[in-house]
Amino acid sequence: MPPFTGQTQWPACESSIRFAKVIPLAIWSNTLNDLTWHRVCTLQELAEGKMRALIIDNRDVVVCHTREGLYALDNICSHAYAKMDEGRLRGIRLICPLHGASFDVRTGAVLGAPANTPLVTHHTRISDETIEVALAG
Ligand code: FES
Repeated sequence: MPPFTGQTQWPACESSIRFAKVIPLAIWSNTLNDLTWHRVCTLQELAEGKMRALIIDNRDVVVCHTREGLYALDNICSHAYAKMDEGRLRGIRLICPLHGASFDVRTGAVLGAPANTPLVTHHTRISDETIEVALAG
């Protein structure tokens, strides 16, 4: 076996690095293409600061139109049973109507008690002026 030299090892490392960068992008792209998108409403029908609830594959989802963009989350509070679309949307903060827990619509993260479990978020996009949602996972 020839003695180790840094030069003979580098091409293999470069190749591995390129491979590692390309594959995740390809998987990400295919994953987005494989999503099933569901029509919500037109962009005009959901003004900024408003929410709209819908059922997708037996899952209660709420779409929130904020200044930062459109976000979709599970519509049932993670604390107890309450429909989040019956609460309030203040900027990126979605506030539960029952006990007042609040969530970041961008990530589903809990911003205020009594909830301690985040809301599941879903994918959104605008296609031909129509808001569409695809369930995550
Ligand atoms: S049900 Fe939402 S905070 Fe209790």
